[in-house]
Amino acid sequence: MIRYLTAGESHGEALTGVVEGLPAGVPLTAADLNEHLARRWLGYGRGGRSKIENDRVHVYSGLRFSKTLGSPVGLRLDNGAYEKDRAGWPEKMALGGERGDVERVTLPRPGHADLAGAQKYGFDRPPRGPDLRPVIDRSSARETAMRVACCSTARQMLRELGIEVGSHVVRIGQVGFEDAEAWQDRAHALLQRDGGARALYEAADESATRMIDADLTEQCVEHIEETKRKRDSLGGAYEVVVTGVPPGLGSYAQWDRRLDGQLAQAILSIQAQKGVEVGDGVAGAGRYGSDTHDEIVRENGAGGNASSDAPSDALRRRTNRAGGVEGGVSNGMPLVVRGYMKPIPTLIEPLDSVDLESGEPQQTRYERSDVTSVPAASTVAEATVALVVANAVLERFGGDRFEQIRRRLTEERDRQ
Ligand SMILES: Cc1cc2nc3c(=O)[nH]c(=O)nc-3n(C[C@H](O)[C@H](O)[C@H](O)COP(=O)(O)O)c2cc1C
Repeated sequence: MIRYLTAGESHGEALTGVVEGLPAGVPLTAADLNEHLARRWLGYGRGGRSKIENDRVHVYSGLRFSKTLGSPVGLRLDNGAYEKDRAGWPEKMALGGERGDVERVTLPRPGHADLAGAQKYGFDRPPRGPDLRPVIDRSSARETAMRVACCSTARQMLRELGIEVGSHVVRIGQVGFEDAEAWQDRAHALLQRDGGARALYEAADESATRMIDADLTEQCVEHIEETKRKRDSLGGAYEVVVTGVPPGLGSYAQWDRRLDGQLAQAILSIQAQKGVEVGDGVAGAGRYGSDTHDEIVRENGAGGNASSDAPSDALRRRTNRAGGVEGGVSNGMPLVVRGYMKPIPTLIEPLDSVDLESGEPQQTRYERSDVTSVPAASTVAEATVALVVANAVLERFGGDRFEQIRRRLTEERDRQ
């Protein structure tokens, strides 16, 4: 199984990551990882060229001649602000020495980990506090940069197996598709192209808000601009789709082997993601069963028109409301998972808080922040979902060598 750990503070020297459990022989280069890292900067009003170019991951172990070795892959991503010594970060984040008169952050921001994290680790009072900097720096979504890099190793393995992961944004704040039916035809047409979910994410990447509808993109951009003028922030929703998934990933046999449960965790493990839905999960709660379940038919005709005696011969579904998972097991349809993100908690408009030093009520101060990060979050979600699917593939077809895995998967596909 593939596991990974990340380390690093957002204003520290660097983020590092170690990915363990990739089989030997997966074609992989730093450029593959950087492609997805750059996509994390997508979204109206985010980043800009300079930030994208700074985010280049350095691979320092686990590869030889552009293939994995089966040994841990070591990754490093330098933090631009620290490197350029902007705002004295090397002193503020010094690993050694004495604190001296380095400034303290004492006003917890609602919606961030600041207060709960400080209470947990004792940064809310002496001897370590009050100083919220350690909490702010590790709980920040900067960590998702290394997460994307780590998970993109697994994603590259999936790509070599013909399994693609993509996503698109379906809502930002109050502007979005009415319901899944409103985007399904368009998404389906993209998924039918060569590349499956890759075609979906490439189409979404063309939009300023990662939406596959030009009118909605425009409306969302306006909504973001208007929200900025109101000094507020927005959340939203997105859909992650995985194509080329064979039936039989995950299991109903034990709670922690259920693929749907693992997919939900992949989304909710990302900062600020507060809801998750597999397929039409939420809408299904208000529908009749007859409008919810995906009927089974033979490939060449409607159910009952048997073209073969073999029971597992080329069966397909009329619909994919289940999002490709039944009983915790992939059923051969594309996996569909939707994530719901809360509005960014750093607002220009102040929120009430209490200063931990003085104990006095105080309002949060102006901080530069994006209005929304939903487009970026959707690309992070692609990465975390890819890792779950890669592990499910390894569990089912696993081996230490990539060729073995590919051969077993091909045999299984031929059998279907
Ligand atoms: C890709 C991404 C970018 C984010 N950017 C910001 C940001 O610019 N400003 C901010 O206040 N929060 C941002 N957040 C959200 C915070 O990290 C998040 O709200 C915080 O960790 C608390 O949320 P939690 O309770 O889910 O951990 C971002 C989240 C993600 C996933």
